[in-house]
Amino acid sequence: MPVGIKLGFVPFSTPTKGILLVFCDDGLRLGPATRRVLGDAAAQVERAAAADRFKGKSGAVLDIVAPADLKVARLAVIGCGKLNELKSQDFLKLGGIAMGRISGATDATLVAELPSGPMKPDQVADLGLGIRLRAYTFDRYKTKPREGEEKPASAKIAIGVADADAARKAFRSREAVAGGVVLARDLVNEPANVLYPEEFARRAGALKKLGVVVEVLDAKAMKTLGMNALLGVGQGSEHESRVVVMRWNGGKRSDKPVAFIGKGVCFDTGGISIKSASGMEDMKGDMAGAACVVGLMHALAERKAKVNALGAIGLVENMPDGKAQRPGDIVTTMSGQTIEVINTDAEGRLVLADVLHYVATKYSPKFMIDLATLTGAIMVALGQEYAGMFSNDDKLAERLVEAGNATGERVWRMPLGPEYDKMIDSKFADMKNTGGRHGGAITAAQLLQRFVDKTPWVHLDIAGTALGSPQTDINKSWSSGWGVRLLDRLVADHYEK
Ligand code: BES
Ligand code: MN
Ligand code: ZN
Repeated sequence: MPVGIKLGFVPFSTPTKGILLVFCDDGLRLGPATRRVLGDAAAQVERAAAADRFKGKSGAVLDIVAPADLKVARLAVIGCGKLNELKSQDFLKLGGIAMGRISGATDATLVAELPSGPMKPDQVADLGLGIRLRAYTFDRYKTKPREGEEKPASAKIAIGVADADAARKAFRSREAVAGGVVLARDLVNEPANVLYPEEFARRAGALKKLGVVVEVLDAKAMKTLGMNALLGVGQGSEHESRVVVMRWNGGKRSDKPVAFIGKGVCFDTGGISIKSASGMEDMKGDMAGAACVVGLMHALAERKAKVNALGAIGLVENMPDGKAQRPGDIVTTMSGQTIEVINTDAEGRLVLADVLHYVATKYSPKFMIDLATLTGAIMVALGQEYAGMFSNDDKLAERLVEAGNATGERVWRMPLGPEYDKMIDSKFADMKNTGGRHGGAITAAQLLQRFVDKTPWVHLDIAGTALGSPQTDINKSWSSGWGVRLLDRLVADHYEK
């Protein structure tokens, strides 16, 4: 049932069918255009609000069915709270809330006006982004609709604005970001029998249509390069491993690229150190880091970002098998450093070790940011609200904190240091792939740091934020597409000329 919504921008007008959505503040005030659109129905809003004890608090909705003096079937008044406290994130949320009400309708009209006057083009665009993100569903494997589920949206949505051209223009970049988030969510939701490394690489290849240069390394090429840590993880699988490098050249020819690296474990059984059965199905999402990188590259290319950006993803499947790697095995990474594999379930760091080294040495990027559903320990530490951030560069880390607060995809900085680093020294090799019971997210990051050399680097542990994350106004899906909006914002605010 692949259906979509149609979003358009139009001058303010009174609709004659479907649902009409308007905004008010915490004093139940309506804007002048909203009053014009409502006509005599404005008085009804006041009475209904009193009857329903609706105060216009941020995110609250007053629903009026079959409103008198209007031809529409429903009128929804959405509270914006205090106007002077509204941030760009709030417009996303308001869009999401509006979409929640539209769901099931075929026609909807929004009046993008605050009591203080028309929303600005950027605010309208954020509203549109919120609508798109909330409208996302993953139902390609459902052959019949189920009762009680939020219906797949197929509404025609007209957003009434003061300046349709300006809104359309501002929305173009948000549309690109929405496309990136949706792509990332789709990849994460896709089951591992469908999305194995080769298929993932093929889907990343679709970015070529947007002008992205895509290069795929197969197992033979990786063997030649010496990526034995990555290959070791995949050696128990029937599916061959892949590395995909995506390049968007929107900046000056001489500019070093900004680089994003993703963990792409298409399924993580744990390997010989096999996981317990309960919840293992979630490990189809152990490629959320790679999905975010692909989604981000999509967003940057589609909005023609003025930046040179590189995305690199390590794609493997971690399976138990006669050919699988064993605890105690020692692998020689591309960097020449050796790793003793204590636990085959600590596989993400092995994959990233080779990809980080490859990107750092081959492309000398301005910085590297890796994203990985790396440890359960990060969820113990931070829950599902913040991603864990580890960095060797205060400035880059600070910028990510800011972008996180601006987008709502928040990061919390965690420590690194020689005392933690010692915990992964090995009896037999340069290091081991686990550091014991304590500080599990930190010792994982310490291993990664051994492969980034002097490159400014951030590691984001997204095990808590990317999968099974709490439902929000802009996401009802199991996968959130976490990181696409955050990193798009980072690039837009600091790395585009
Ligand atoms: N992919 C998992 C981490 C994970 C767990 C992500 C739950 C999302 C949800 C990772 O490969 C893993 O298995 N980590 C182990 C490391 C341990 C063996 C040192 C963990 O966190 O238990
Ligand atoms: Mn694992
Ligand atoms: Zn994993």
